[in-house]
Amino acid sequence: MTRSIKRIVICTGGGDAPGLNAVIRAVVLASANRGWECYGIHDGFNGILFPERYPEGGVFRLTRERVRGIAHLGGTILGTTNRGNPLHYPTRMPDGNMGEVDRSGEILDYFATQELDALVSVGGDGSLTIADALHKRGLRVVGVPKTIDNDLDKTVTTFGFDTAVSFATECLDRLHSTAESHQRVLVVEVMGRYAGWIALHSGIAGNAHTILLPEIPFDLDKVVQQIRARDDDGHLYSLVVVAEGAIPLEGDLEIAAAAQAGHEQRLGGMGEHVAKELEQRTGKQARVVVLGHLLRGGSPTSFDRIAALRFGAAAVRALDQGLSGVMVALASPNVNFVPLAEVAGRMKAVPLDGDTVQTARDLGICLGD
Ligand code: F6P
Repeated sequence: MTRSIKRIVICTGGGDAPGLNAVIRAVVLASANRGWECYGIHDGFNGILFPERYPEGGVFRLTRERVRGIAHLGGTILGTTNRGNPLHYPTRMPDGNMGEVDRSGEILDYFATQELDALVSVGGDGSLTIADALHKRGLRVVGVPKTIDNDLDKTVTTFGFDTAVSFATECLDRLHSTAESHQRVLVVEVMGRYAGWIALHSGIAGNAHTILLPEIPFDLDKVVQQIRARDDDGHLYSLVVVAEGAIPLEGDLEIAAAAQAGHEQRLGGMGEHVAKELEQRTGKQARVVVLGHLLRGGSPTSFDRIAALRFGAAAVRALDQGLSGVMVALASPNVNFVPLAEVAGRMKAVPLDGDTVQTARDLGICLGD
């Protein structure tokens, strides 16, 4: 018989996103209010795999005091890493080359020897895939969907996305006046990995004239036509939002850094490419602004803060109800629980038949097709 819960652990993995601290606070308070103890792991699972790195221990007690006044802060008080997948841990192999080893057994042993009853894993696809694997190996696990990219399936949205979109929108608002004053093409590259959610939503909200998404391979001639048409109408500037994962019809992704053992490839550079091409083809000055990690920083918006607090509290309720192997999901107006197996390894792309893409088209925004 599984013992009743007394001590739970929370970890944050992958790229940070605004709202992580709000989840941590909600998990700690909801646990404390049930008489449970809550612990945090430093830097994903590194606190367990490399305890010697942490003077206070790799796993540490999270009390009410420790999480006071953190819900509005960006980042994560636990630290995070997107290079610490315990299922594929980057390790120097006997032949001297880097390889990957499965260190999940060390995590399971730690939970057993320290009498820790369950894990709340807050992360994106990578972290939730790890959570699913740990659940299948016998650990009680509940996942919480985090990513600015909004590319997780089975949830209306992830926390972090709204903050990223709000900031990108504010940047676009600011760029209109300088683009117009100089009669330039302003190209704004946004993160989002292989999905165009941030680009699409910020582009529409920020009145971009063109939005290039990974989901729609783009033809630069179409963008040039749009810029010329605007010129002909006397609007001598244009704003182009480019998702970092956008792909030209006849071309490839722009890779900033190739994949390495334990780490996925890093995207970046498509904004620069598009700006150069547009400058050449239109004869207008073009400038590129890469928003990059700015989208991951700062205070969570109230939407993300509430989503994160709801997700954290719901994760504890799920454990209290005896659930495991599930992810908390937003199923507006409520949250529900979906099997991790239905989320892990799947990417939610922007649906091309959805009304948001249709809205962009109806507004006359060029999508590069
Ligand atoms: O998944 C979040 C994200 O910010 C992506 O949008 C981006 O491609 C990636 O992480 C960047 O990762 P890193 O922090 O390793 O540069």
